[in-house]
Amino acid sequence: MQITLNGRVAIVTGGSRGIGRAIAEALAAAGATVVVNYKSNTTAAEDVVQAISLAGGHAVAVQADVSTAEGVDALFKATADTYGRLDVLVNNAGITRDGLLLRMKESDFDAVIDTNLRGAYLCTKAALRPMSKAKGGRIINITSVVGLMGNAGQANYAAAKAGLIGFTKSVAREMASRAITVNAVAPGYIATELTDALTDQVRAAVLETIPLGRLGSAQDVASLVCFLASDYAAYITGQTLTVDGGMVMQ
Ligand SMILES: NC(=O)c1ccc[n+]([C@@H]2O[C@H](COP(=O)([O-])OP(=O)(O)OC[C@H]3O[C@@H](n4cnc5c(N)ncnc54)[C@H](OP(=O)(O)O)[C@@H]3O)[C@@H](O)[C@H]2O)c1
Repeated sequence: MQITLNGRVAIVTGGSRGIGRAIAEALAAAGATVVVNYKSNTTAAEDVVQAISLAGGHAVAVQADVSTAEGVDALFKATADTYGRLDVLVNNAGITRDGLLLRMKESDFDAVIDTNLRGAYLCTKAALRPMSKAKGGRIINITSVVGLMGNAGQANYAAAKAGLIGFTKSVAREMASRAITVNAVAPGYIATELTDALTDQVRAAVLETIPLGRLGSAQDVASLVCFLASDYAAYITGQTLTVDGGMVMQ
């Protein structure tokens, strides 16, 4: 089975680093033209575009804050003006502002909801226009096992990620008649800059909870996203698939 996305156009929000970067590179390697969205780090985004070009793929970097309607309008307008179509949207942009609820500032609650959940709402709504017209499309929302399990110190993040799961199921039902599939991918502990900072003691405790005995890689997540974006996944919609080494078995 070889995944081919030749001729397809994909937007990856937060595609400049970590998991988003791996997703952008994997979609491009499968033949898609990728719009690499980012919020502030232009150098990182240009680096992804260059890596994709060097590998023989096509990509462009577009700065836009997906938590704002203006940012999302600009992102989708740039995509429509340049490519005239949209086949795949990956809502990956995400942030954390951790803290126990008793001490959690309203601004930290709002910021996490605005980027992780509102951003996906705004982008999905914008994507539905070209996808409905084309009578087809793939929307993939990057949630987290935290949205399934909860996590002390992450009430804001868990609420956003659990919200994204309900959002996925509802939009999947609304858009099924147009052959637009909507799925969520829930990574567990993925080796990124964030998890590099774990102490040995915390890392050992985390590994105890993972049946496969290792942290995941960004490529582990990207492989599933590529599959969901492809024709092979045409009959899968409204699902939340975990990539977590068996941490959460649903
Ligand atoms: N890492 C994990 O272990 C893990 C586990 C479960 C789920 N996830 C989820 O996977 C996704 C990616 O996580 P990651 O660890 O790879 O993140 P990351 O390395 O921190 O990268 C975040 C990306 O999102 C972009 N971004 C942030 N706010 C944005 C906004 N308002 N508008 C547009 N782009 C924005 C960043 O762009 P700039 O750099 O330009 O700001 C960057 O490209 C997130 O949704 C996260 O919740 C991660």
